[in-house]
Amino acid sequence: MEKKMLFPKTGGLLHGGDYNPEQWLDRPDILEEDVRLMKKAGVNSVSMGIFSWSVYEPAEGDYHFDWLERIMDRLYENGIYTVLATPSGARPAWLDAAYPEAMRVSSRGVRDRHGNRHNHCMTSPVYRRKTEQINRRLAERFGSHPGLILWHISNEYGGECYCPLCAKRFQQYLADKFDHDIEKLNKAWWTVFWSHRYNSFDQIEPPYENGERSVMGLNLEWKRFTTWNTTDFMKAEIAVLKEITPDIPVTTNFMTLYDGLDYRRMAPELDVISWDSYPSFHNDGEPFFETMAENAFHHSVMRSMKKDKPFMLMESAPGLVNWQAFNKLKRPGVHKLACLQAVASGSDTVQYFQWRKSRGSAEQFHGAVVDHRGTEDTRVFREVAQVGEMLQKLRPVAGTTVKARTAILFDWDNRWAIQGMQGLGRETKRYEETCMGIWKEFLKMGVEMDVTAPDQDLSDYDVVIAPMLYMLKSETAANLRAFVEGGGQLLATYLTGYVDQDQLCFLGGFPGDGLAELFGVISEEIDTLYPSDRNHIRFEDGREWEVRDYAEVLQVQDARVLASYTEDFYQGMAAVTCKETGKGKAYYVAARTAPGQMAWLFEQMLKEAGISIRQLPAGVEYHVRSGEEGTYEFYLNHNTHPVKVENVQGPDLESGAVVQGDLELAGLCTAVIRLQGTD
Ligand code: GLA
Ligand code: ZN
Repeated sequence: MEKKMLFPKTGGLLHGGDYNPEQWLDRPDILEEDVRLMKKAGVNSVSMGIFSWSVYEPAEGDYHFDWLERIMDRLYENGIYTVLATPSGARPAWLDAAYPEAMRVSSRGVRDRHGNRHNHCMTSPVYRRKTEQINRRLAERFGSHPGLILWHISNEYGGECYCPLCAKRFQQYLADKFDHDIEKLNKAWWTVFWSHRYNSFDQIEPPYENGERSVMGLNLEWKRFTTWNTTDFMKAEIAVLKEITPDIPVTTNFMTLYDGLDYRRMAPELDVISWDSYPSFHNDGEPFFETMAENAFHHSVMRSMKKDKPFMLMESAPGLVNWQAFNKLKRPGVHKLACLQAVASGSDTVQYFQWRKSRGSAEQFHGAVVDHRGTEDTRVFREVAQVGEMLQKLRPVAGTTVKARTAILFDWDNRWAIQGMQGLGRETKRYEETCMGIWKEFLKMGVEMDVTAPDQDLSDYDVVIAPMLYMLKSETAANLRAFVEGGGQLLATYLTGYVDQDQLCFLGGFPGDGLAELFGVISEEIDTLYPSDRNHIRFEDGREWEVRDYAEVLQVQDARVLASYTEDFYQGMAAVTCKETGKGKAYYVAARTAPGQMAWLFEQMLKEAGISIRQLPAGVEYHVRSGEEGTYEFYLNHNTHPVKVENVQGPDLESGAVVQGDLELAGLCTAVIRLQGTD
């Protein structure tokens, strides 16, 4: 097994975060104190320059980088490495004044005024040029600095621009996509409906709020275009860095399942995946374990984009955030737990927003390692320092990865298509929630599950769950069929295979594109239940699942019926089926049921695949990372009470104690065990 450490120079895991020394250039005493405190907290990296453009270039062409060089030097001398950002995430005032086209136009067709951040036009040739110029200067000046380990491209890309330049580019994108043949587009978008035929590509406008919003193809292609154009902007930012510093890896920070960008299209352009994690800890709507499990799901989304190497936790809040509806403090112990969860999920870094609180402006009350008091004598600082110590002891884990034999299929195109679809229950589509709910059941069973795309290679997996796979893009059906024929167990649900990649309904029966044959069923109708409606599904052994929201009425072809509805006009008709094909099995669950009830069926599938379920006390999360130098088990107790995990053997990396049999975990505590026989 190969070990792929992300940052060999550091010899282990990164610990650090966003650092904004440009806010303190007139306070050398504070900058000096920062270095001392960083060492005290076990920090070995900082991310700088994310919003520094107006300091780098206070007037056009007037560059000032000496301050950064001094700081990078000083940090490096103290064993602290630099993640350096490109500053495109926020523009200086002079830039917008000189080049208004850099400012975005909203979906109402109104140009933004200067201000805020994360709001530049992705097409503007001037903005691309200005970004290229500053990125080039940065790379030339700092590319060979021994402290530089990574480029952080912009910050949390997102949003849309409806300016004339973007509208034109959208037309060009469509012309290329549809081979410059407007009739191809008319067909794909079914524009003859409501007389919406186009004669040429230049008649097509983005879906302005006061414009065309009823052409499903237009709405979807606009989202795809926004991803494409943002990726193109990002590629242009990367190109100049790669030209000058081919050996410095690049990343950009993602935001959980952010709806506006298909991250999987951006991922191939990046050397490493990173993301910003801000769970609503201790909220009043869900148990703590659920919040943590949701965060674990997001880690898995990120990890699965590049399975062969670790990912990065780029940002997390050391104490609290300032932008949630209620900015609750993280309770003692939760910081370490959340940091270890990242590492357990495959991250080689624990990084924060932010090192030191700003004195003024929008984020002055956002949590930081160092608060306005400026000392190490705070609870938050002590908890961060504890994480620093822990990460030192976990150094051997760096470069190892999490390997999963199960996967859930989640797809942005499918998500956008479900959102745009006119039908079902307006408030109960819940695609993301459904995927996450099922994923959490595997987490509870201690079984690793990747989150992958339907058109990805599935050969690493034995069990694949495909919830609500409404859109089947070309090749997806063939991919799923090959998976089952090759011995995989596939489980699909209601709403599978209704439309193709252009959102045209499959003719000849759902699920389309040959999947009706794979599952041995045809879905004839789908019933949307009112929130108070219930139905039930009964299995042969008497077991029952409760049905909510959706129930499909199936015509069974040649599948085995495992369970049937108990009520309504489809009482007695098939609700869960299974068909064997080749060496594998294709399950179909025709109605929405609680994931916890489906767990029983998942267990059967896992057993058959020979995947062992880890017996865990409720509220305990489990992961395994492995590589050429060892295999490590991670146990996280999300309960405030102590628990005992059975059958644990090996040295605990943190305490050094050897566990033989029972692992006792205090409330909110963790353990990392090196498995024996893996030296
Ligand atoms: C985002 C941004 C940061 C900061 C944090 C605050 O993740 O990238 O610059 O604003 O949120 O939580
Ligand atoms: Zn634009």
